[in-house]
Amino acid sequence: MRQKIVAGNWKMNNDLNQSIQLISDINKADFSDKIKVIVFPSFISIHSVAEKIDTNKNISCGAQNVHPKPNGAFTGEVSTSMLKSVGVEYVLVGHSERREIFNETEAFLKEKIDAVLDAELTPIFCCGEPLEIRNINQQNQFVLIQLQKSLFHLLASEIEKCIIAYEPIWAIGTGLTASSAQAQEMHLFIRNSIADKYGVETANKISILYGGSCKADNAAELFSQPDVDGGLIGGASLKANEFAAIINSFNLI
Ligand code: PGA
Repeated sequence: MRQKIVAGNWKMNNDLNQSIQLISDINKADFSDKIKVIVFPSFISIHSVAEKIDTNKNISCGAQNVHPKPNGAFTGEVSTSMLKSVGVEYVLVGHSERREIFNETEAFLKEKIDAVLDAELTPIFCCGEPLEIRNINQQNQFVLIQLQKSLFHLLASEIEKCIIAYEPIWAIGTGLTASSAQAQEMHLFIRNSIADKYGVETANKISILYGGSCKADNAAELFSQPDVDGGLIGGASLKANEFAAIINSFNLI
């Protein structure tokens, strides 16, 4: 059984006090510890949030970004060892906002994947197509190139330590969600692409999350698809009740 995961990407929301409030509300919420829950606060709040996580719950702390170099003259950047020192276990790599707003290239994302794995942290590699690519039905080729350029240099023993998040850009923060059929089709395509390169056994070990306007009222339908192993949640992860309801939607399947 692949690990089921619900991850909350808080993006550039919540100051320190608000972040502490949100994690204490999540701690109090009722959900199964069979689901791995990961929260991604801003860098500023990671240390305090990681310290406040209820250790009886299956919750971990992640970082929204990292720089691939171990240290040095990179003003404003944060390294893997810094993240580890404050309790980070997971790192988002290649979120579409990093790719589009901050011009992160596939080669740079590849360096980040290597740095994160070297540090024995778990990368969540984000991929997904913009609307104009979906409109011409080229989404599979587009996502395959993202995988090939930043992930497929890894050994099987390395890629099986990664989590993948499929996030169609046209669904992020827009209220438009991929239908469960569209999500399943892409998740299966991603899994088959991994199987073509690394074999079925490796492909079947990798959790693939869906992201893009996933909410309490559509999560169960998305998570019920055979190749959808959970969600990467943005806006709906900022309210503990809604986030807990998304986690609990696994109980409805
Ligand atoms: P959204 O964001 O749930 O607000 O659409 C998802 C994401 O960007 O990870």
